[in-house]
Amino acid sequence: MKRDLISIVDVEKDLIALLELSQSLKNRSMAGQISESLKGQSLAMIFEKPSTRTRVSFEVAMTELGGHALYLSTADLQLGRGETIADTARVLSRYVDGIVYRAFKHQDMLELARHSTVPVINALDDLEHPCQILADLLTVKEKKGEMKGLKLAYVGDGNNVCNSLLLGCALLGMNMTVGCPEDYSPDERILETAKRIAAQYGGGVEIVEDPMLAVKGADVVYTDVWVSMGAEKERRRREKAFRDYQVNSQLVSAAKDDCIVMHCLPAHRGKEITDDVFDGPHSVVLDEAENRLHAQKAVLVHLLGGT
Ligand code: CP
Ligand code: NVA
Repeated sequence: MKRDLISIVDVEKDLIALLELSQSLKNRSMAGQISESLKGQSLAMIFEKPSTRTRVSFEVAMTELGGHALYLSTADLQLGRGETIADTARVLSRYVDGIVYRAFKHQDMLELARHSTVPVINALDDLEHPCQILADLLTVKEKKGEMKGLKLAYVGDGNNVCNSLLLGCALLGMNMTVGCPEDYSPDERILETAKRIAAQYGGGVEIVEDPMLAVKGADVVYTDVWVSMGAEKERRRREKAFRDYQVNSQLVSAAKDDCIVMHCLPAHRGKEITDDVFDGPHSVVLDEAENRLHAQKAVLVHLLGGT
């Protein structure tokens, strides 16, 4: 039976093991050890939206694991000319061992997964970004050690990254507070699920409007763009709504002295995060970006390698 990674909750039972595998693959890679566990395997990567980190890290991950990745923009596929998602999934499943998909709509992600006979990995859609959150949790673990009980404050738009973070933090018994304007709070159903999971694992979820209150005493301060891909028409309205939600040095000073600052990137410097914070001593954004590679290797080995 094939396994997919559409939501971070799909790896609920394997989350700790995946983080450990990510760390051990990272250590091996740092030591110059080569593991060709996916030798001869191919990965199709369908992108409806641009990408730097996700595309490159998946491609490099496949190369380093001895396999091969094919980058497929929708403009180059018959998908762009009206072939259905279902038929695309059925055909690609005859050629490749896994499909990475970056989609505009979560429904399209589900449709591809439903008709594919090989694992489908969500490389971001309008609801979730699970691969990002695996790398984020790996980064928090590296920097902070024990995860349970840590406070992560997410400031800004309650978007796909925020949704997956809510679920991921809940699964590890962390406390997550979202500081966002009322009209931009996270998905209601995700929020309900995150609260239920957090209660089960001893963590907590809180939504507040005041960004200062959100970051108070936080171990991790996290932000993302105010205008996600696909929301460009709302730019002016969003920039106005989020004006008071910038992660700047004043906001960071309300968090713990040893807090780390995270951002999934790409960042819009001077908007959701200032230059001095992005480049400052609390920032771990480049380690976080690097960890995309190690965490995704673990996902590929887990889903394609049959571990
Ligand atoms: N964080 C992230 O997913 O970046 P890309 O859009 O560059 O892939
Ligand atoms: N929330 C952002 C994340 C980019 C990696 C977006 O969807 O555009």
